Amino acid sequence: MMQKKRVELPLLISLFVCCCFSGTAFTQIKTIPLETRHHALVLQVSDQNDVHITYLGRRLNQATEYGIIPDAYKQHTDYTGLLNSAYTPSGSRNLLEPAISVTHADGNNSLDLRYVSHEIQQLADGISLLKVALKDPVYPFEVILYYKAYFNDDVVEQWSEIKHEERGTVTLHKFASANLHLKASAYWLRQYYGDWAREMQPEEERLTHGIKVLDSKLGTRTNLFQPPVFMVSLDRPATEHEGEVLLGSLQWSGNFRTDLELDPQNNLRIISGINNYASDYSLEKGEIFTTPIFMYTFSAEGKGLASRNLHNWARNYKLLDGNGQRLTLLNNWEATYFDFNEDKLKALLKDTKKLGVDLFLLDDGWFANKYPRNGDTAGLGDWEENRSKLPNGIGTLVKEASANGVKFGIWIEPEMVNPKSELYETHPDWVIKQPKRDEYYFRNQLVLDLSNPEVQDFVFGVIDDLFTQNPDLAYIKWDCNAVIYNTYSAHLDNQSHLYIEYVRGLYKVLERVRSKYPTVPMMLCSGGGGRVDYAALQYFTEYWPSDNTDPMERIFIQWENSYFYPAIASANHVTDWGKQPIKFRTDVAMMGKLGFDIVIDHLNDNDLAFCQNAVQTYNGIKGTIWHGDQYRLTHPRENSVASMLFVDKAKEKGVLFNYLVNNRYDEGSHLPVKLEGLDPERNYRISEINLYPGTSSPINHEQVYSGDFLMKIGFNPQVRKGRESVILQLEAE
Ligand code: GLA
Repeated sequence: MMQKKRVELPLLISLFVCCCFSGTAFTQIKTIPLETRHHALVLQVSDQNDVHITYLGRRLNQATEYGIIPDAYKQHTDYTGLLNSAYTPSGSRNLLEPAISVTHADGNNSLDLRYVSHEIQQLADGISLLKVALKDPVYPFEVILYYKAYFNDDVVEQWSEIKHEERGTVTLHKFASANLHLKASAYWLRQYYGDWAREMQPEEERLTHGIKVLDSKLGTRTNLFQPPVFMVSLDRPATEHEGEVLLGSLQWSGNFRTDLELDPQNNLRIISGINNYASDYSLEKGEIFTTPIFMYTFSAEGKGLASRNLHNWARNYKLLDGNGQRLTLLNNWEATYFDFNEDKLKALLKDTKKLGVDLFLLDDGWFANKYPRNGDTAGLGDWEENRSKLPNGIGTLVKEASANGVKFGIWIEPEMVNPKSELYETHPDWVIKQPKRDEYYFRNQLVLDLSNPEVQDFVFGVIDDLFTQNPDLAYIKWDCNAVIYNTYSAHLDNQSHLYIEYVRGLYKVLERVRSKYPTVPMMLCSGGGGRVDYAALQYFTEYWPSDNTDPMERIFIQWENSYFYPAIASANHVTDWGKQPIKFRTDVAMMGKLGFDIVIDHLNDNDLAFCQNAVQTYNGIKGTIWHGDQYRLTHPRENSVASMLFVDKAKEKGVLFNYLVNNRYDEGSHLPVKLEGLDPERNYRISEINLYPGTSSPINHEQVYSGDFLMKIGFNPQVRKGRESVILQLEAE
């Protein structure tokens, strides 16, 4: 074994050549470790030039030892030499689920992929890219595997490029983004399911042998039943603080598929990519098929650290304006639904000012004339202002907003159409539907065919026209309420490309929007949380987790989302859902980006004063919530009190949210809640904030506690019946 001195680089990827005993002969094996601050992914090239994943886990102190990891395992036979392939081909030796499966131009179904070369580029400080080139020894068919490592955040993004020089077209039947391989004694999968208003319902179970598939075939609004995010814990279920855990997801706003296969050796193969369902892809000679990115983070210190790493990574590299500011707002959806006119909206603009938030958001119902948008059955697609509701157009409202000292934002759903619309009458060929079958609707609407460049122009035009006519427009809520039924494009020759071309078309539009309007905040909404992923969030500043704004439900939905997405991206509105007092509703909405969707006029004096003060209070703490570190202290599924803490990066300020989530007799915070993320050496003063008028707090803000005490003993927020929701502010002395 050749010993090399360890070089401490932001990212170390190097090639170690070691001699390993394999069978009867010594062979040369290349080891390619990809390290981040605490984590390593190790590839090895065998003497047969197969590329294997030999390790995914905690970083070793001596990088030279990565090469001998396989020797430590005495597992069952791998008859194929491919069980731990870094990108499993099909039709040759492989016997398990492939990452890629093709039919060559000559009709042959076999694929083999052997190592050609690899290289590493330092893209920026702390960001490196490993490229591994693979080639079929028989066919001119190549795959390049990409691994982009974010050193500080322990995040890796993976994708593949597929191309060929065959005489004719190659059909790709499966074309994964990533193929991981994990070794542990057991694996626990945390996955999510849901539906409208029931997003992010968690299930955690031990994986058994065979394949567990997480997928979507909905085309659009693809997270409705299942989002692409998941966690896998190794050896035992990870907790917030303990255990090895991988958090992963595909960055793709269309059909996704993740296979988790416990193989005959008890290793876990994770293959993730675009769902190949009804999506055979015809790849022309010389064309490069680039898969979307699969991303993961690995933590050996539980889910909490993993999620904070993801938050930092997201704010720094993915989420649009992730380290920036956000606008608080008043939305009129639940306040008026479709029933409004200019006068009503002008009054709401005054209410926006009265409440003290930054922006008024005009929701659905402002457009369409031949088939006015007075309900969800008509008008979608006809994006001219409705003349009877808004005789003076949006422009008047934008001006009026500015006269009131607030900004103006607007709702659109540009990808969809009601059959009862002029758009449908004029362009039936722009609609995804089967030519010979009855139409079938989701919320009375159909999906426009974004694979068609004319439709892309139209969708871009909806946004561009709004901004051209109203340059002061300050916010867009981009909705997407329908799934794709009867998948068929009048534009495409190859129907099996539609699911993919739809998403590519959507991203082309979003690219155009962002190159012309780079900073305007946009909310990613999809009938609630039907569409959030990190590909989309590159274009959006926030997402709408659910139409369910009952604060008790929201505690749970926001909680699960918080493992994967930072609070700054979570648009939370105070509404009349749920029976809780306004304070409880507002406190829950404050754990992210605050908005309101209530009739200000209907609030009694105390409720109004509370809301006005809450906005001011929020302005004082939002920086910590948006840009700080998030700690889930007590989980609402396991405790009667849910506590969530945000601490700013300097460990000077903290905001602790606490809620009673069990209303049985005598439930409450009998025990102190142990805080995290504080400086043990500093002293903190704790005071209760966001009190309802006329109430006082039992918390003694004169008492000072060391960070050490607060993290070892904890603090009791005194949550109980009558104090169901308590926000505490921590300030370092
Ligand atoms: C979806 C959104 C809601 C609202 C309505 C308008 O359901 O999730 O917030 O905008 O559409 O039709």
